[in-house]
Amino acid sequence: MLSELEALLKENRLFSPSEDLMKNSNIQKWMAHYGITSYDELLQKAQNDPEWFWDELAQELEWYQPYENVLKWDPPHAEWFCGGKFNIVHNALDRHVKTWRKNKVAYIWEGESGQVKKLTYHDLHRKVNQMANALRGLGVKKGDRVSIYLPMILELPIAMLACAKIGAIHSVVFSGFWAKAFQERANDAKVKVAITVDGFYRRGKVIPLKENVDEVLDDIPSLETLIVVKHAGSPVHMKPGRDLWWEEIIHEQEKECITEPMDSEDPLFILYTSGTTGKPKGVVHVHGGYAVGIYTTLKLVFDLKDQDIWWCAADIGWITGHSYIVYAPLIMGVTSVMYEGAPDYPDPNRLWEIIEEYCVSVFYTAPTTIRLFMKYGEKWPQKHDLSSLRLLGSVGEPINPEAWMWYYKHVGNRQCPIMDTWWQTETGMQLITPLPITSLKPGSVVKPFPTIKADVVDNKGNPIGEGGGHLVIKTPWPSMFRTLYKDPDRYVDAYWSTFPGVYLSGDVARIDEDGYFWIQGRADDVLNVAGHRISTAEVESALVSYDAVAEAAVVGKPDQVKGEEICSFVTLKKGFDPSPRLKHLLREHVRREIGPIASPAFIGFVEDLPKTRSGKIMRRVIKAKVKGDDVGDITTLANPEAVDKLDHPL
Ligand code: WTA
Repeated sequence: MLSELEALLKENRLFSPSEDLMKNSNIQKWMAHYGITSYDELLQKAQNDPEWFWDELAQELEWYQPYENVLKWDPPHAEWFCGGKFNIVHNALDRHVKTWRKNKVAYIWEGESGQVKKLTYHDLHRKVNQMANALRGLGVKKGDRVSIYLPMILELPIAMLACAKIGAIHSVVFSGFWAKAFQERANDAKVKVAITVDGFYRRGKVIPLKENVDEVLDDIPSLETLIVVKHAGSPVHMKPGRDLWWEEIIHEQEKECITEPMDSEDPLFILYTSGTTGKPKGVVHVHGGYAVGIYTTLKLVFDLKDQDIWWCAADIGWITGHSYIVYAPLIMGVTSVMYEGAPDYPDPNRLWEIIEEYCVSVFYTAPTTIRLFMKYGEKWPQKHDLSSLRLLGSVGEPINPEAWMWYYKHVGNRQCPIMDTWWQTETGMQLITPLPITSLKPGSVVKPFPTIKADVVDNKGNPIGEGGGHLVIKTPWPSMFRTLYKDPDRYVDAYWSTFPGVYLSGDVARIDEDGYFWIQGRADDVLNVAGHRISTAEVESALVSYDAVAEAAVVGKPDQVKGEEICSFVTLKKGFDPSPRLKHLLREHVRREIGPIASPAFIGFVEDLPKTRSGKIMRRVIKAKVKGDDVGDITTLANPEAVDKLDHPL
């Protein structure tokens, strides 16, 4: 007998949202307003006239001064809403406090140890204003860079909004990265001020972020001030003249602060992401277009209404959190849940308890979390009343149909459509996604969002009918990144030159007979570990920076929960011998250099790595070996015997 899942895959069954959900959805109402009767009709109309679509949505936000043009497109450079004066914080906060929304809760925050804090829009507005005034007092001006190295505590969105309010550019560094990664990013952006915390909780332990960052602060020459939030109460050393407590600097600040009117195209933030080289890329997003893109998608894809409780269970240190925990939900004026800790701490009840406790109605998470909870079993969600949920979301990596079905059945009780949204740090907003009015196929990200022309092409750029190829985007979109910070050439080379004028995503995908997109993973040397982008080159350079290591090759190995895990092969310098202790030391070293998320799950010591005759490490062969695939023709290698030896590391 076929299992339910096999039957489903064979039938290619479609799942449709309920009539009720469709009828009342924001997208349905939006279309009705324009006399559009089906989603296909909208796609057609928006494709023919993208500027109409984005103009209408941009008008739903407040502009200090109207824009003159919706789009100027000089591939690969786009300007959106040119001539407009705008500030994302005006839209996220200032305008709400003039309405009934001022007393609405913006964030329900839960600490890992159980503490709960609620901030209304009014509270948040005042705190942001005080911090913005404090930053101004420290000499931070429009265009200055501020590094924010904070965990999931309320001061993180407050700090981001405070920067944006005064026109400073924030660069958030994920708190799971370690001090060296922070230093590299802070130096690239030449930050004037940095903001961190004494410590925070992760799985019951205190992570001492300030102590950790102390190691590198003297090596960030541009840094004038370090602001420290008191959170875990861990002991810290405050350097006089440089380090200041958050509480002390905001204490006497005015609760009002004028928001800086920005040009639409002024930078809002830099967010570093992994590329194919060891050097992270500083993705730059701007105020106007970014705001319009993320607002539109949250409204139409996740269908948020005033009565919803939204929980995007990502970390703000990544783009998902920037777009869909901080900016878009605040622009929409909804109530969001923000949780500090691990979703399964102290036990697998935690995630479901939070949904039940706060009556979360729309929930957005990553497949790795779903797979983790699948492993724990459905008895955990079953113990809780999850009936408040009406819509679910997935992001960050391909969701396998089995995990999709589990999420659909055991979390959504077969009532909640799953929005499997494809996008990237660079795209800023969801680009290929279902909507609450589209039919779903488990594992597919459905279709490009209105106006987005996506395609799958071969190495020459020709569209592929069947099978996998490069996923490309052929049209500009408002929240696209504008450049790579201080590296405009890399912006062009890495994304727009393989197929001139066309955006190369770096992913492999296929399109089925119904025009549905299926993402198959990365085409380049970027790993996706538990939804986090990690570059193999970065891990390799961390490994070879350890004095015992001569060479290192890092590849991804498929993993049932994390999607991929980091697998490394290492050769040692003369005089060093393989040992379990050395493995441990290497893992610790990578943790310190990049962060715990980059620590290799597997380290194999070998005498030699497979290489071409010109001495290049053949990662393709190592990858095939690790995955158990056919390694192909290896006769051209300089040392084919090294391939088999990968099976028997020292
Ligand atoms: C992957 C996260 C399959 C993809 C928003 C992309 C996905 C990378 C999906 C970007 C999805 C993201 N299905 N794969 N729904 N969403 N990805 O920059 O490989 O952290 O290139 O942005 O995640 O990761 P990033």
